[in-house]
Amino acid sequence: MSTKLSVNINKIATLRNSRGGNTPNVVQAAIDIQEFGAQGITIHPRPDERHIKYRDAYDLQPVITTEFNIEGNPIKKFVDLVLKIKPTQVTLVPDAVDAITSNAGWDTIVNQSFLTEVIAEFKKNGIRTSIFMDTNLSFIEAAAKTGADRIELYTEEFASQYELGNEKAIEPYIESANLAANLGLGINAGHDLSLTNIQFFAQHIPNLLEVSIGHALIAESLYLGLQNVINMYLYKLENVQAANE
Ligand code: PXP
Repeated sequence: MSTKLSVNINKIATLRNSRGGNTPNVVQAAIDIQEFGAQGITIHPRPDERHIKYRDAYDLQPVITTEFNIEGNPIKKFVDLVLKIKPTQVTLVPDAVDAITSNAGWDTIVNQSFLTEVIAEFKKNGIRTSIFMDTNLSFIEAAAKTGADRIELYTEEFASQYELGNEKAIEPYIESANLAANLGLGINAGHDLSLTNIQFFAQHIPNLLEVSIGHALIAESLYLGLQNVINMYLYKLENVQAANE
């Protein structure tokens, strides 16, 4: 079975928020992204709501026909939101309130009892749980004891090394994925995955169930769409000129 692609639509909300109003429309974007074949939609509401707003989660819920993944730091406001929405999956991320983006996985040893408690609550409500992890083998062993269904491997280090030509950077991810699989954990991955590195990553990670991709996918869509849209504008402008002649 091939790896599922879950598109993180936070960046679409960021663009919308930069202007006020509702363009681009994140709900319509989610509908279209699913129509185009993506197998999931991811959102990452942060307490300051600078990307996706809590309201968006409610608006998106009825239109998600694929897998809905909500990720974030399990503070009370987040836990309450997830329990109300009941998405397919919740991904727990230890990001600070002011972090530009997630920048580390969990220390599952220090946070073991906290994670065990929140994970039990989500699972009681039928929500699949995943925890964001670095390739630290002791932390992955402890992750298995929290009751989590899956881990999401934090791929920033792989992505930056791969860009420099260091293919060996995949090795700790292979080791972590093998250990996780032996412990009965499913494997997701995300952060800085892109058209450049996704195939190499997916080829090397056994049983990769899902990748969630936001920043690069939206940036690539922008670049790959520019020529088409510029031609559409030129066509409209040329039509006006022709009508005036
Ligand atoms: N996974 C997690 C836990 C994240 O926080 C993010 C970024 O919000 C992603 C995946 C996606 O990362 P990127 O935007 O670099 O594709």
